[in-house]
Amino acid sequence: MKRLAILTGGGDAPGLNAVLRAAVKTAVQVYGCEILGVRNGYDGFIEPGGIVPLGLKEVRGILPRGGTILGTANRGNPFARKVEQDGEEQVIDVSDQVVSAIKKLKVDGVIVVGGDGSLRIAQEFYEKGVPVVGVPKTIDNDIGGTDVTFGFDTAVNIAMEAIDRLHTTAESHHRVMVLELMGWDAGFIALHAGISGGADVILIPEIPFTWQAIVDKILDRVRRGTYFSIVVVSEGARPRDGGLVYRQAGDEIYAPRLGGIGQQVADTLQIDTGLETRVTVLGHLQRGGSPTAFDRWLCSRYGAAAVRLAAEEKYGRMVALQGTEVVDTGLQEALVVPKRVNLESDAVQTARDLGISFGDAG
Ligand code: F6P
Repeated sequence: MKRLAILTGGGDAPGLNAVLRAAVKTAVQVYGCEILGVRNGYDGFIEPGGIVPLGLKEVRGILPRGGTILGTANRGNPFARKVEQDGEEQVIDVSDQVVSAIKKLKVDGVIVVGGDGSLRIAQEFYEKGVPVVGVPKTIDNDIGGTDVTFGFDTAVNIAMEAIDRLHTTAESHHRVMVLELMGWDAGFIALHAGISGGADVILIPEIPFTWQAIVDKILDRVRRGTYFSIVVVSEGARPRDGGLVYRQAGDEIYAPRLGGIGQQVADTLQIDTGLETRVTVLGHLQRGGSPTAFDRWLCSRYGAAAVRLAAEEKYGRMVALQGTEVVDTGLQEALVVPKRVNLESDAVQTARDLGISFGDAG
């Protein structure tokens, strides 16, 4: 193995730089292999100045840094790219251009550090003959084949701290505090942070809720003499009789952006409970800043394991955490079924045992 390329794609997640550092150190120190950084996701393969050498010097000091030193893009699908041609918007396929650019770089393998979107594109390139290895990144924790994606733990910790802070102000003002969290179609961030932070209600996409069940829970607390409540809402949560709430519409190329359900929940609860209600949308704070120890530990292992996979020519595979071990799994198998909160899991049961309401009858 003489040369590898590595890119970071999709929304950023804490720990991207830790993966880059571990991959570079392993490639250089163990295999004497050169590693090229691809800037701004797949775009870097075909954009001027898009390829940069990544050596030990470039990755020094980046372990605790949020973001990605390579830059990223979550609107950069080379198989379906929107461009303006003759004053009109067109969708073009530049994947062949990317494949020939990769061939020219004479790399033995391409490590793609990304979420389900970037990894699906990696799988498509693999089917076109590009030797790829995947590293599962996303704060949402919604990728199959692995118990945990990196970035998730940091996001949960940030959300938990927000809940802790909301508790003290909620209690002082006797208010209902609604916290909207990210997670897309998966409720992992809300569930883990909600349990860790001691929320009273957790609304997740996997369990459509009824307004009545939430109101009953809050008023039950009032009857017992507790005049504040913490309601954690995943951005993909929805009432049984309603749809998802978007802050930006999507189209056939770009995914829509979720957001706004927290405000709806707060407005409805203020009217239906008669209690003063406030909403906080944590947003991109969940993705920014330094990774936790767990994420640095996981990213270091993922980065090193990805290079070992490339050295063994195990392409079309993704590194994964299964139990306590970092292993590898087929990229395609990992992507077939997106991971969602298992309603039979002990985590969901634990929440119910602790008296947390999911806004359902359970
Ligand atoms: O997938 C990660 C994620 O943070 C989701 O939780 C969220 O819905 C989305 O990305 C936000 O994307 P953007 O940064 O493009 O607004």
